[in-house]
Amino acid sequence: MERKYPHLCAPIKIGNVTFKNRMLSAPMGHPDISADGHFSPAAIAFYELRAKGGAAVVCCSEGVVHAATGRSHTRMVNLQEEFVLASLTDLARAIKRHGAAASIEISHGGKFSDVDQLDKSIQKRNVRYGPSDEVLPSGAPIKEMPVELIAEIVKAFGDGAALCKRAGFDMVLLHAGHGWLLHQFLSPASNRRADAYGGSLENRARFLIEVLDAIRAAVGKGFPIELRFSAEEYVEGGNSFEEAIEIAKLVEDKIDLLQVSTGSYENSFDRTHPSMFDPRGCNVRFAAEMKKHVKVPVSTLGALNDPAMMEEIIASGKADVVEMARALLADPELPRKVILGRDEEITRCIRCFTCLAERLHTQTRVCSVNPIIGKELEYRYAYPPTKPKKVLIAGGGPGGMQAAITAAERGHDVTLYEKRDELGGALRCERKISFKDDFYDLARSKALTMKLSGVKVITGVALTKEIAEKEAPDVLVVAVGAEAIVPPIPGIDGPKAVVANDLSEDGVSIGQNVVILGGGLVGCEASVHLAQEGKTVTVVEMLPDVAADANAKHRPILLAEMKKRGVSVSTGTTGLGITEEGLLAKLATGEEKLFPADTVLVAVGQRPLRGVADELLDAAPEVVLVGDCVKPQKVTEALRRGYWAGLDI
Ligand SMILES: Cc1cc2nc3c(=O)[nH]c(=O)nc-3n(C[C@H](O)[C@H](O)[C@H](O)COP(=O)(O)O)c2cc1C
Repeated sequence: MERKYPHLCAPIKIGNVTFKNRMLSAPMGHPDISADGHFSPAAIAFYELRAKGGAAVVCCSEGVVHAATGRSHTRMVNLQEEFVLASLTDLARAIKRHGAAASIEISHGGKFSDVDQLDKSIQKRNVRYGPSDEVLPSGAPIKEMPVELIAEIVKAFGDGAALCKRAGFDMVLLHAGHGWLLHQFLSPASNRRADAYGGSLENRARFLIEVLDAIRAAVGKGFPIELRFSAEEYVEGGNSFEEAIEIAKLVEDKIDLLQVSTGSYENSFDRTHPSMFDPRGCNVRFAAEMKKHVKVPVSTLGALNDPAMMEEIIASGKADVVEMARALLADPELPRKVILGRDEEITRCIRCFTCLAERLHTQTRVCSVNPIIGKELEYRYAYPPTKPKKVLIAGGGPGGMQAAITAAERGHDVTLYEKRDELGGALRCERKISFKDDFYDLARSKALTMKLSGVKVITGVALTKEIAEKEAPDVLVVAVGAEAIVPPIPGIDGPKAVVANDLSEDGVSIGQNVVILGGGLVGCEASVHLAQEGKTVTVVEMLPDVAADANAKHRPILLAEMKKRGVSVSTGTTGLGITEEGLLAKLATGEEKLFPADTVLVAVGQRPLRGVADELLDAAPEVVLVGDCVKPQKVTEALRRGYWAGLDI
């Protein structure tokens, strides 16, 4: 049988382990590691899901090798304590029972250790070691690491790797990138030592080489060691790409797989984790160039989620394997779907950063487009219903579609009604925004999944109480969505005003000079899109800040993108009316000002279609409301509610 993506599906031998395909799950930390350093059952289930989904290797995170000096955050697995062995072993077994190889990242945070994400004051209290004396911008003093401590840490890396091997891991990933300890020594920007560990490139690489030798001595010949490093640092005074190539050449005989990443924790989060404004596969060029200089197999990662692109990367020899982090949160089954040639069914990562921002916010792991993430244990133990029920769904947006899928996959008889001719609900607004094509693709992938799970879909018909009563379902899920708020200001009904929800509708024309009334997430993202199209854009916001509803990781990147694209912003400014010239507004000073505009895009928020929902409250014995018709929120919440509504039936 011929595979659709033969190169991605081909096995490869790395060290003495044969990876069953070329798709690897990149390291992702899970917050549920106990204070004394065990992987919880929830964390194990988190990693296991990716193994079940067909990844060749699942890399777990994060083992700290020298806990007294090296914790980059509070929840890490302490590889110096033998008592973590049981949970390490459980984790390795959970991955391997699905035929994937189990890998684990081992690291040391160096000068960024003891960064307690909840209590930043800890940064100032502990002694932290880096390559050289310095004071971080946060005010935290860093001490030059004494050579005795270097030797202790070298040994600790070896011991940590040995413990992972004993637990059954097939491979280790040594973290020497993203600004952590070994990267700090490699980089001339942070390593100003005058001893054998500083100065020349060979000296800066000495620590890494000693660590690799210690790991090899501990794990033996053939046990695969993957090295993660940053080929491009994006730090002033850091290594050039040419120097990075020289470093790779110095260590290639000591490793089995070279992972070519970029960026640093310190200053380039948007390089270590490419944002929605970056093209897919933006780091591939570094791996491709690296491959011309080294013999060791090379892996590439960063904003990869498209099977055709990944196939081409392997087929053309730009890299030997591909790695994905966020794409396998969005769809842990991505590798299996690639193998089966069912890639149309993939739910794509939208690079919204909810996964990372939510950890900062609530210490939990969630994914906008995959409601199972963070609840893998419950998902595993969700019992199928004993008596299939007749289920009606009103509304074909994300919440309604997810409820339909989950209910149908559990054996219920499901029919979904959508009043428009097209499914997608609020996702339709993203249709023409270039950097949100993966977001809009969610409408397509959910529609396809509904079809495959046997949901009957009726479009162009709004589900009324009469239809529902005639159909006589056991359960009715109401997911009728929200509508745009239109502020009652003069001129709002005139030709200049366009509601943001209609931005992607056919036939809507936007003038050259645009004023956006409302600087929330929707207005700000629209401003980038319109500026990308060459328009002159001003965002007018009543509050003191724009994009206040964006998550903590996406917001700074979005604001930087607005600035880069020349979007003007006027905060503390209230729209008073739309005239023939533009938007008349009141500034924070109390003065009135006309913002000239050909189009005023109105993006002041959404209100639930509660009235429509209320009409249906008695249309079935059991009625459940989900999504924006309860409270307009992000797609994360709509999908999560839809999923649990489907599960509750
Ligand atoms: C939720 C999440 C957790 C991560 N945790 C780690 C980690 O513990 N260690 C690490 O080296 N990288 C971590 N990363 C970075 C990823 O391994 C990867 O380098 C990055 O996300 C870019 O790949 P992607 O575009 O496929 O997501 C994490 C990324 C995400 C999204």
